[in-house]
Amino acid sequence: MGHPVLREKSKPVEKLGSPELKQLVADMKETMAAKNGAGLAAPQIGVLQRVVIFGVSRNPRYPDAEEVPFTVLVNPKLQMLTREVEEDWEGCLSVPGMRGVVPRYTKLRYTGFDEDGNPIDRVAEGFHARVVQHECDHLDGILYPQRMTDLSRFGFNEELFPGEELVDE
Ligand code: NI
Repeated sequence: MGHPVLREKSKPVEKLGSPELKQLVADMKETMAAKNGAGLAAPQIGVLQRVVIFGVSRNPRYPDAEEVPFTVLVNPKLQMLTREVEEDWEGCLSVPGMRGVVPRYTKLRYTGFDEDGNPIDRVAEGFHARVVQHECDHLDGILYPQRMTDLSRFGFNEELFPGEELVDE
């Protein structure tokens, strides 16, 4: 947080299926796995292209955590399907060690392409919808603290959730 690249608007990917795009996605997957993240956007590794990845697999230690299919989403477009907003905690690999309560729409449709150019068209709710909004915000230079409405619910992981293992987006 504070790096100027994270405040910029990313550019659409012009060529789907290119070796450059596949290399970018491979680098992003490696970073997300190394940091145990739930999602990552290209600007977070310094690339101003409209590419996000996300996914959360079932973890027996967190039986309540919703599963999100692993997805590579290029040139995403979001359409909110409700005006209903829900507040929940978020963390971000670009705001390490912190959590904040962020309001997000509870249901949306997202479209775009995978790295090979195959179209993606899905409806998502709950945590899945939250992760998509968080990642796509990165493409417009927005970090989650800018979405917060109550900064009293912003703090350090070890103070808010002592001893818990958390995933960042
Ligand atoms: Ni993030």
